[in-house]
Amino acid sequence: MAEAVPTVFVVDFGAQYAQLIARRVRECHVFSEIVPSDITASEVARRAPSALILSGGPASVYAEGAPKMDSGIYALGIPVLGLCYGMQLMAVDLGGAVPKTDVGEYGFAQLSVTDPSCELFEGLSTEQHVWMSHRDSVGTAPAGFRVTASTPTTPVAAMADRERRLYATQFHPEVAHTPAGLDILKRFLYDVAGLSPTWTMVNIIDEAVGRIRAQVGDAKVICGLSGGVDSSVTAALLHRAIGAQLTCVFVDHGMLRLDEAADVVHVFRDQFRVPLVHVQAQKRYLDLLAGVSDPERKRHIIGEEFWKVFFEEATRLEGVGFLAQGTLYPDVIESGPGKAAKIKSHHNLIPFPPGVHFDLIEPLRTLFKDEVREVGAELGLPDHIVHRQPFPGPGLAVRIIGDITEEKLDTLRRADAIVRQEIGEWDTDREVWQYFAVLPDIRSVGVMGDERTYGRPIIIRAVASADAMTADWARLPHDLLAKMSNRIINEVEGINRVAYDITSKPPGTIEWE
Ligand code: XMP
Repeated sequence: MAEAVPTVFVVDFGAQYAQLIARRVRECHVFSEIVPSDITASEVARRAPSALILSGGPASVYAEGAPKMDSGIYALGIPVLGLCYGMQLMAVDLGGAVPKTDVGEYGFAQLSVTDPSCELFEGLSTEQHVWMSHRDSVGTAPAGFRVTASTPTTPVAAMADRERRLYATQFHPEVAHTPAGLDILKRFLYDVAGLSPTWTMVNIIDEAVGRIRAQVGDAKVICGLSGGVDSSVTAALLHRAIGAQLTCVFVDHGMLRLDEAADVVHVFRDQFRVPLVHVQAQKRYLDLLAGVSDPERKRHIIGEEFWKVFFEEATRLEGVGFLAQGTLYPDVIESGPGKAAKIKSHHNLIPFPPGVHFDLIEPLRTLFKDEVREVGAELGLPDHIVHRQPFPGPGLAVRIIGDITEEKLDTLRRADAIVRQEIGEWDTDREVWQYFAVLPDIRSVGVMGDERTYGRPIIIRAVASADAMTADWARLPHDLLAKMSNRIINEVEGINRVAYDITSKPPGTIEWE
């Protein structure tokens, strides 16, 4: 049985390559799924994807333990596009040669299309810049293939066997450095595989709504709402599908930023009219956290208490059958060649109280973060939620070094609001990944007016990043730093210094804990 939505399988020979390809395919409005390289031909035949793309990967095809693929897949008649490692594997599997060479090719290369009638290059310039990153390359294309493009160092830079619907490029069409890359992918998807660009936000939502209704039936669904992007979009999507069968539980642990709790309540209860239980658990958390300064301990207490409070509320409601979670696609696939799509079990992580059990519903589990934001926008969630910066689950608790008190929370909240307002007004294009204030556990002397002070500093953290894995401190203008410093010292009592963190990640982390 074919997949319900026409699907391209991206065979994973290297996780970051596979994810990028999967995202690019989706940018072409075709649904894609990452599958492990040990997927069998019979499994592929059973699931009948519309096409396969073999990803690049770090291995050499001859290296011991280099990932292989069931070569029966080439004979299924499903179009296959091999990229980089995927091309070399295709060549070796089908009788071509990949000689060991001393010359690799890294960076831009000048590609000459030698067969402009090849569907991949039709209508595109015959001379192109492409991005290469390889040591080995195909020396002889397998029988039945034509060489369709070459570069000065790589004579077989692309090859195709129209009959068997097999295509390959040594370069990376999925990276932004290959300017015609997306066009080449589109030609493969639309012209070779005959797909249409039908995977659009409207269809994604319609399809998800249908699936949710079928899964849930008349049961009630409970969803923990934090105000973050993932839980907010999950809630909005469920609400679209099942209306008042959904109840959201918003556990206010008191570690949120200024006005954040009120905003969550306003958006979901007043605007979306979602049945919402707002649990005011601030005092409960402060009591539990009193005197605790170890960061791990703080996180543990907050996490554990969340589930206690959540299930207290959830078990009050009658007829709940499902627990909704904002799990995203990168949470579902494990990284590493051959490991993609091995499902991580979230069920084990949820501490159901004895005798309580809900099935999980995860309507975003096939989507990447940027797609989730688009779904949220399409569903009418406000911009500030859809584009909310990452914010740790334990909230300000990780940004107060040392023990947590109500007074420190209040101080940090007010300083943080100034940082967010000032940088937000300056960074209109959202170039800065994340910015916030931190309250460390020290005091120092200062002088204000005629008086000596003994106050706390505020540390401003602002970083540029693409994915939070690495980050650099943001080069904010001095005037902006000066304005924040002045405002924080003048407006936030107890603060007598402001410092700016100029540490990248690594060696630092983004958060202070
Ligand atoms: P670090 O501090 O490790 O943070 O460089 C990387 C990114 O993760 C965010 N972060 C969290 N996000 N729950 C979250 O949802 C958490 O407990 C958590 N801790 C850190 C952090 O803000 C940064 O974007």
